[in-house]
Amino acid sequence: MKELLVYAHPALAAVAILLAFIVYRDGFAQRKLRLRKITPPEGSYARHLKLAPWNAALIITAAIGGLISAVALREWKPFDTLHGWFGVTTAVLFTLMWWLGRKLIRGQKHVAERHGLIGLLALFAAGITGVLGISLLP
Ligand code: HEM
Ligand code: HEM
Repeated sequence: MKELLVYAHPALAAVAILLAFIVYRDGFAQRKLRLRKITPPEGSYARHLKLAPWNAALIITAAIGGLISAVALREWKPFDTLHGWFGVTTAVLFTLMWWLGRKLIRGQKHVAERHGLIGLLALFAAGITGVLGISLLP
């Protein structure tokens, strides 16, 4: 059972990272609209608002799950890997995105630039975390 459970965190996190690409792409379509007044693909705004909170929740769950998995299943010391530190940084960035996203919905449009920039950072951080995680697989 333990042999299978150690793959739960990597599998969940991989789904979360793939989802982040879709969420970023839909958000970026809004950026093009904002800066160049180009009509974004139909449904991209609604999809961004629907998927983004799930994406943030999944990333945060993946980070907590990774820590639990490392300590309980692998019997490691917590935060003993670069992957772990990148993972927690990623989770913090997605939490920040959530907060900024809520502000955007409430009409505080001046945070759009910050939301976009931190979104790019969050996507990069998630990608690097994922790549670093591969070498930790059993
Ligand atoms: C978690 C909850 C989130 C909410 C509620 C949210 C909400 C929004 C809203 C309302 C906009 C449109 C801004 C406008 O009207 O100009 C937007 C834009 C955007 N979002 Fe999100 N978002 C969230 C998470 C994310 C995440 C996780 C990413 C990246 C992976 C992301 C990337 C973007 C980008 C790149 C833009 C364009 C920003 C710009 O105009 O420069 N968002 N978001
Ligand atoms: C953004 C997504 C991810 C986050 C936030 C994340 C976060 C974490 C954290 C915080 C730990 C604890 C490590 C420590 O305390 O030093 C961990 C462990 C681990 N992570 Fe990730 N991780 C992510 C993606 C991945 C991916 C894609 C893989 C595999 C391809 C992976 C493989 C592992 C493995 C093998 C462990 C050791 C625990 C176990 O075997 O289940 N992680 N992760």
